[in-house]
Amino acid sequence: MTGAAHAPALEARGLRRRLGITDAVAGLDLTVRPGELYGLVGPDGAGKTTALRLLVGLLVPDAGEARVDGVSVMSGGPALREALGYMPQQFSLYGDLSVAENMRFFADLFGLAPAIFRQREAELMQLTRLDRFRDRRASALSGGMYKKLALSCALLHRPRVLVLDEPTNGVDPVSRRELWDLLYQLVDEGLAVLLATPYMDEAARCHRVGLMYAGKLLAEDTPAALVKGFDDVTWLVHLSDAADPGARDAAEARLRERPEVRALSPQGGGLRVVVDRAGDAEFRRYFAAADAHWRLSPVAPDFEDVFLRLVTHAS
Ligand SMILES: Nc1ncnc2c1ncn2[C@@H]1O[C@H](COP(=O)(O)OP(=O)(O)O)[C@@H](O)[C@H]1O
Ligand SMILES: [Mg+2]
Repeated sequence: MTGAAHAPALEARGLRRRLGITDAVAGLDLTVRPGELYGLVGPDGAGKTTALRLLVGLLVPDAGEARVDGVSVMSGGPALREALGYMPQQFSLYGDLSVAENMRFFADLFGLAPAIFRQREAELMQLTRLDRFRDRRASALSGGMYKKLALSCALLHRPRVLVLDEPTNGVDPVSRRELWDLLYQLVDEGLAVLLATPYMDEAARCHRVGLMYAGKLLAEDTPAALVKGFDDVTWLVHLSDAADPGARDAAEARLRERPEVRALSPQGGGLRVVVDRAGDAEFRRYFAAADAHWRLSPVAPDFEDVFLRLVTHAS
């Protein structure tokens, strides 16, 4: 236990940072508690990486503050390094070194005593099931194993807060699932995890998510609450002439012109359409009269609809 048991594990208050001509992070407030898996979700360029770099003290904010266990990241020093584990998107392992040698390198970096290192190495090898590959060079690992090794290296010093930038990028679906199981295990043990992802299905697996766009959070809640609070109507438009590549584009262009259409995305051979509830009757009337080749079926809104709707509103 730390003295600041009630302090959030990780906290951002009014964080801002301009990069070039972009307000990469434009006023960010965020809290991650011990045992919480928080997802920062948004498309490329939303500001996720910049936010994480500000939160771990690798980048100095223009305004605002980041805290770990109640201690300012800017004045944190060695205590901060001990509390934090950070896995950047391009985590650099040594390709010529083996799995075991990479872990030893990072243990030395954190000054772990040999006995403690041996114990944690054994634990992490078992947890990640990397033990069979301990002598394999890092450059010869699959994408999934590489990420697991990177995660192990970030966990060797037992941080209380783990910050991960797109940890499943370039990872096959099976390894992705294994990585997620690992993360759940870690948060169950009390670790606070903040991860950035562009994937909506991953966002839906987090305890809480912040939807980020243009440097700001558009919304923040549990995935279930965000979907429950969604007040629009979602339709799937089937196109019987979907085989013609031009047909979908033409349909999309026409539907985009409808004032009641809030968001639109391809799904299968058709289009997924989010319609303003107040305009839904109008939309159906338009639809019935529009084109005999289109067919409409209702679908339950999901997390991606919520996000698309918010982004469309914001841009
Ligand atoms: N070094 C930089 N110089 C100028 N602009 C940058 C730099 N790094 C990032 N940006 C801009 O800041 C914004 C946020 O980038 P980033 O934090 O990398 O977003 P994400 O991780 O969500 O893709 C983008 O518009 C990006 O182009
Ligand atoms: Mg990024």
